[in-house]
Amino acid sequence: EEQKAEESSDVDTSSDEDEDEQEDEVNNTTDMSECKETSSVCQETKREVKVEQDGEKEKKISDQEKVQKKPSEPAIFIPVDRSPEVQEARLKLPVLAEEQVIMEAVRENPSIVICGETGSGKTTQVPQFLYEAGYASDGRMIGITEPRRVAAVSMSHRVAKEMNLPTQVVSYQIRYEGNVTSDTKIKFMTDGVLLKEIQKDFLLQKYSAIIIDEAHERSVYTDILIGLLSRIVPLRNKKGMPMKLLIMSATLRVEDFTENQRLFRTPPPVIKVDARQFPVTIHFNKRTPLEDYTGEAFHKTCKIHRMLPPGGILVFLTGQAEVHSLCRRLRKAFPFRKGNTATAEDEEAETSEAMRKFKKAKQKKTVSLPRIDLDNYSALPVDEGDEDREAGIGDEEDGDSDLDLGDDPADAEEKADGSIPLYVLPLYSLLAPEQQAKVFRPPPPGTRLCIIATNVAETSLTIPGIKYVVDCGRVKKRFYDKVTGVSSFKVTWTSQASANQRAGRAGRTEPGHCYRLYSSAVFGDFTLFSEAEITRRPVEDLVLQMKDLNIEKVVNFPFPTPPSTEALVAAEQLLVSLGALEEPPCTGRLKDMQRAKLSCPITPLGRAMASFPVAPRYAKMLALGKQQDCLPYVIAVVAAMTVREIFEDLDRPARSEDESSKLNQRRARLTQMRRLWAGQGASLLLGDLMIMLGAVGACEFAGCTPRFCENSGLRYKAMVEIRKLRGQLTNAVNAVCPEVGVFVDPKMTPPTEHQVVCLRQIVLAGLGDHLARRAQGEDLVDPKWKNAYKTPLMDEPVFIHPNSALFKTLPEFVVYQEIMETSKMYMRGVSAVEAEWVPQFLPQYCHFGSPLESPSPWFCSSTGTIRCHRSSTFFRVGWQLPAVEME
Ligand code: CDP
Ligand code: MG
Repeated sequence: EEQKAEESSDVDTSSDEDEDEQEDEVNNTTDMSECKETSSVCQETKREVKVEQDGEKEKKISDQEKVQKKPSEPAIFIPVDRSPEVQEARLKLPVLAEEQVIMEAVRENPSIVICGETGSGKTTQVPQFLYEAGYASDGRMIGITEPRRVAAVSMSHRVAKEMNLPTQVVSYQIRYEGNVTSDTKIKFMTDGVLLKEIQKDFLLQKYSAIIIDEAHERSVYTDILIGLLSRIVPLRNKKGMPMKLLIMSATLRVEDFTENQRLFRTPPPVIKVDARQFPVTIHFNKRTPLEDYTGEAFHKTCKIHRMLPPGGILVFLTGQAEVHSLCRRLRKAFPFRKGNTATAEDEEAETSEAMRKFKKAKQKKTVSLPRIDLDNYSALPVDEGDEDREAGIGDEEDGDSDLDLGDDPADAEEKADGSIPLYVLPLYSLLAPEQQAKVFRPPPPGTRLCIIATNVAETSLTIPGIKYVVDCGRVKKRFYDKVTGVSSFKVTWTSQASANQRAGRAGRTEPGHCYRLYSSAVFGDFTLFSEAEITRRPVEDLVLQMKDLNIEKVVNFPFPTPPSTEALVAAEQLLVSLGALEEPPCTGRLKDMQRAKLSCPITPLGRAMASFPVAPRYAKMLALGKQQDCLPYVIAVVAAMTVREIFEDLDRPARSEDESSKLNQRRARLTQMRRLWAGQGASLLLGDLMIMLGAVGACEFAGCTPRFCENSGLRYKAMVEIRKLRGQLTNAVNAVCPEVGVFVDPKMTPPTEHQVVCLRQIVLAGLGDHLARRAQGEDLVDPKWKNAYKTPLMDEPVFIHPNSALFKTLPEFVVYQEIMETSKMYMRGVSAVEAEWVPQFLPQYCHFGSPLESPSPWFCSSTGTIRCHRSSTFFRVGWQLPAVEME
């Protein structure tokens, strides 16, 4: 039945049944009275949709055709003053040959798809085509989304330079920064930024065209944007303010977009840009190193450099730390003779622009959090780290060659052997823009370019002059446990498509070679493609964002690849528990929820939560944070939890005796600092979150210097990121409840005992579904339960980590941020909970004794008090809790 409903549904983002629509309408109006202005446009939009729904299908299609055929395009040509060199270089790009075809398709269709190999010029040229055709001349902008910050920034600079226009005109906007002005005509941004903009203006009236770049990466936000834009574009056309959608992909695998009836009724035309790809010879290793692929990459790179003809080397590793470690080893092996200048300079690579600005600010003796423009809505929580982005098919040529280096990784430490210097550069998402820009410049004369990259170099950026690719065959991916939703980064094998894409990087300018640090048998076992990200992660944040866009039946949303119903149910259930969504009409059992068709409307609390750019659990904490002046602390803790990994990783094995003793020293120091920050007595019970709070406070007090971080075992980058996020969250909270008017003093004074108690309660309210209780009774007969905790969702025992503030305390009830599986299942971010708080603060997770009433929502009350008259309580999994007798 459901399927039928979907098929016949009119593929609109709003609900597909009249009954529900009426409900929506009511909700909308009530919401509007107390919420942000966003709703007004959405509501208008909605009405529009409804009118359309009432009409007959045939008529609608012919209407749409009319709109499509209508010559809405501006018949202007805006000249661009390019330098002769730029002009010459762009004429060589394959995409230039398709300019006519592309622009004709744009004129005649509301949406089009462009496929072209990486490096064919899509990202840099298509915005220019649109600009020249006048799409930015009616006061509207051309917007381009990128899944990665690094691409948004570097591409905006590149296009500005090519067009000879200032960065006020060709600009970028990413989560924390941007240079958009009122003169901006071409705007590069991360996909999350555009999603936030849709929340503010559903029709995206500032734009005349939107380009979704790197659609093949299938990032969650890109997928959702395509779903939303498939609705926004026809609406804009109907309103006589036409907008164009261009979807760009590096692979031909675009059926999820084009042959998806739910997305586009008329499939958008696909324009293929011929690849200019030279043959790439693939060399597989005979053996596959299981552990030390960085070492293997080192040896391979050294060999290429010593033995093979000129040509740049591009090495693919999985993360930032690996990239830097290999850079250091290679620079040591093939140093610059003259004063080592490049090396010293590049070691500085970590210093981002923001840090420099901060240092400057400090010199002026003004330490203030960066003030972020409220109109620059940030992205949703994006873990841009160096997480995987998967790609599609590249060209590959098999066969042996005399350039095969064989594999003998047992080499001793490599020596320069009179080779020319190697110009080694790192490349990863979070690298400072000026450092990124270096990879595009020719290397110093007499050197060989060698770039050590994460898979950011796979499709987003094309580096000129690469002839050799060294591929470790792995990616760093975020994994989520289906049951607990707990996530972790793990390094895994990449997909065949992605490996081929990497190999393709070697054949851009001449025939090249790709050295795979794994055997062909291992390659054969790789998956062909990787799944769309949306299918392998929890979706509660997306569901909340969509509800905030008044898309109540998320299940009917035209996802290019829909997440599983199971994932949607879990998300909706969590959001109901958090109070972000209204409870479904029938009590919150899974089956009933499904029957309620996953269409719980958003609550005012949910609206507030949706405006905070953090995961819903943390957003809940922020929403409650104003009580007892706790907000600055809640913001700091949430920022620290969102940034993750704020402590240096000292558990890595040491490579030498010397390093080992240094590591031990540092570990001891970090332990000491942790103990200090955890505090004593009352504050100790806030546990690991107190350590985070203490670390943030101490770091700010010391002026957030690299030195302080280094000496205290903190990751400087994480601390800088936390600082930015605190500023951003402060603004977000101020926007939602201006009456509170939080000012975050960078130098927080420690919370009072009273505040610590409130903080623990706020944390419990957010992390309620992550409650654990110390094993007791008969469980203890089995030694595996010694000092262990039980959680509602897992059968296995979980533990408090020896690094935790509560390792020795072992409180009866705790909440945790996440569970990481290493040698054991360890809870991270643990905080102690008083038993009587559970029925008080988590009634939604409790079954109460008689009288059986449904638990009352408590979260909306500003004081956080609860009204209930219950005598005995059971947690859902049957934990008997103390009786609550309250007002
Ligand atoms: O988007 P797509 O992968 O199709 O190509 P692109 O990013 O537009 O790059 C087109 C060409 O411009 C490539 O050959 C790049 O190497 C070059 N490019 C560059 O030299 N410097 C940049 N900052 C960006 C691109
Ligand atoms: Mg591109």
